[in-house]
Parts: sequence; structure tokens; C-alpha cells
Amino acid sequence: MKTVGLVGWRGMVGSVLMQRMQEEGDFALIEPIFFSTSNAGGAAPSFAKNETKLYDATDIDALKRCDAIITCQGGDYTSDVYPKLRAAGWNGYWIDAASTRRMEQDAVIILDPVNRAVIDRALGAGVKDFIGGNCTVSLMLMALGGLFEHGLVEWMTAMTYQAASGAGAQNMRELLAQMGTLHGSVAAELADPASAILAIDRQVTETMRAEAMPVAHFGTPLAGALIPWIDKDLGNGMSKEEWKGGVETNKILGQIAGEPGSIPVDGLCVRIGAMRCHSQALTIKLRRDVPLDEIEGILAAANDWVEVVPNRREDTIARLTPTHVTGTLGVPVGRLRKLAMGGDYLSAFTVGDQLLWGAAEPLRRMLRILLE
Ligand code: HSE
Repeated sequence: MKTVGLVGWRGMVGSVLMQRMQEEGDFALIEPIFFSTSNAGGAAPSFAKNETKLYDATDIDALKRCDAIITCQGGDYTSDVYPKLRAAGWNGYWIDAASTRRMEQDAVIILDPVNRAVIDRALGAGVKDFIGGNCTVSLMLMALGGLFEHGLVEWMTAMTYQAASGAGAQNMRELLAQMGTLHGSVAAELADPASAILAIDRQVTETMRAEAMPVAHFGTPLAGALIPWIDKDLGNGMSKEEWKGGVETNKILGQIAGEPGSIPVDGLCVRIGAMRCHSQALTIKLRRDVPLDEIEGILAAANDWVEVVPNRREDTIARLTPTHVTGTLGVPVGRLRKLAMGGDYLSAFTVGDQLLWGAAEPLRRMLRILLE
């Protein structure tokens, strides 16, 4: 039985991972060791097995006992511990949710329903670092994997509508606090059906711009608004999130962005006031004018989680929304139609839970691949 170290299992992504591992019976197949950065010596969670105490997540000797380590602890932890662990001669599998090592040449970005062949090739070649992808990229590929698999994508733009959870747990709380602050500022007027909507709107705007609006984490109101920038400013007009779209999509597919055979993927990334579902509006330049019903068949057949939603209003508002998708592994894709530019221009819209396929699920599935 493989010994598997779990780091960062108490955070938001880690908690979702623990829940999924319990649901899927993963713990029956491994000997888990739980690590902590703050509570070494404390009690491991109730689903621990033989190792019932927490080990220090920076204890290289303890980490070295593991055949594989799954970490959701974040990039700073990876930067600190990973080099020390490898320098100490550890040759186990490193499965990581953080982006730190994602673009390293000797690391593979894992999304097995899309790139199992890339993963298998890497395992055969002795690769030991398997890193979860950017959530937006993973969710886009879960939705559109079929088109890529059939070599139908010449280029693509992704305009994103990203949830607060992508920025972290504190940001989700802040979004709700902002919503409450706005509502509280006009609650009395709202309760009066005779009150004037423009007066209410004026008050909401005033509240949004006031000092009392909680913006410590987002830096600006998200509730009642949006933020058209995600992650660092790369200084070339591009956000880091937008850069990831191109480089990670190609890396997952086993190619290098910008090199011959790669697929240009670019767009604008926007934070909106959803809780944990990322949505994306996609424009796909097809390599040829494929009939829509054929496209729908290709998309639906690509994996067990993608769901093609008929491009009708009722189906769309019932099934293609964060409200419907949140907390599920389903990745619906809809709004499929040929654009006015021509038969080889396709539109699509997809929604996915950012914490499941966007973060935790590929990690536990990589562990399962190692256990096969
Ligand atoms: N960078 C993403 C976001 C989250 O901010 O929504 C994880 O990939």
C-alpha cells in the first residue's frame, strides 16, 4: 500500500479534496499521513488510518517517507519545501495544486480526461511532478476537449466570468459582506414598493464608493460590479490569468504555446460575483466548417462529465448557470451556434465548479492513476 502525504488538506481546495477522496473511497487504497504547517503533533482528521497525529509539513525526513505527496498548501510552501525534498534525495510523486511548478519542463499539468496520453507518456519517461492546472483552463478543456481531440481548433478566445472562490476563501466572504452592505444601505427603501428605484440606485452607488464598503481583499467592490483584471499585471497589457490560458492549454495538450503546431488561445479574464463557478464565453475558429450537430456529438462524447445544453433559452437558464452547476462535477457547454463571421466560427458558453474539476478532482484522479 502506498504511503501518501497530504499537505494543505484543511484549506478550501484541500477540504474539497478530502471530501471527494472520502466519497470515492480513495483512503481505502492508501496509507495517508497528514501534515500541518501550524499544528504538528495535533490530531489527524477522523478519516486518518494508522497515522493519527499530524506531522510537521516542513519536516523533510517525515515527508521522505511518502511514496507520493499531494499538496494544496499553496505556492509559498511548494517553493520552500519542494527543492529541499528533492535535494534530500526524495524520488516520490509530487502532486500539487499550486502553479509554482506548472510550467517547468519536467512537470506535467494533469487533467486526465483530456490528457491521459500525455500523463501516461510522462510516467513512462520517469516524470515525478504532476501539477493541477489553472481552474479556468481545466474547465474550458473539460467542456471543449472533443474539439481539441479532433484537431478542429485553429484558435480560440476565452472571455471569462470568474467566481470569487478563485481568489480565495477570504474573497468569498468579502463578496457576501459587500452584498450585505449594499442591501443594508437600502433595506428600508426596498421594503417600500412605492420608493423610487433611481433613489435606491443612487444610495447603492454612494455606499459602493464609501469608505465603509469592505474591499480589503478585492481592492474594489465586486458585488453589484465586476473586476476586469485577475492575478498579476505582466506589464504587457496582459494579466497573468490571461497568459495562463494560452500556455497551459497548450501544455496540457502536450505542445508548447507559440511553437509550430500549438493553438493560439487568448482573451480577457473578468472577476464576477459568483461564488465558486467559473463561466466562459468562447469564440472558436474551426479548421473547417463542421455541421453543428456533428460538433455537439463530438463535444458530448469527449468525457463523462461534459453535458451539451441545447441552445434554447429555457434550457440555458435552467442548466447553464453557476446556480445549477455549483457543487457538481458536471461541466455543461451550451450557446453553441455558428457566428455571423462564417461557418467556421463557433460560439460556446461553459460553466464549471472551480473547486472540483478546477482544482481538487484532477489531483485525486492522478493519485488513482498511480495506484492502477
Ligand atoms: N486563478 C484563478 C482565479 C483560480 O483567480 O479565479 C485558480 O486557478
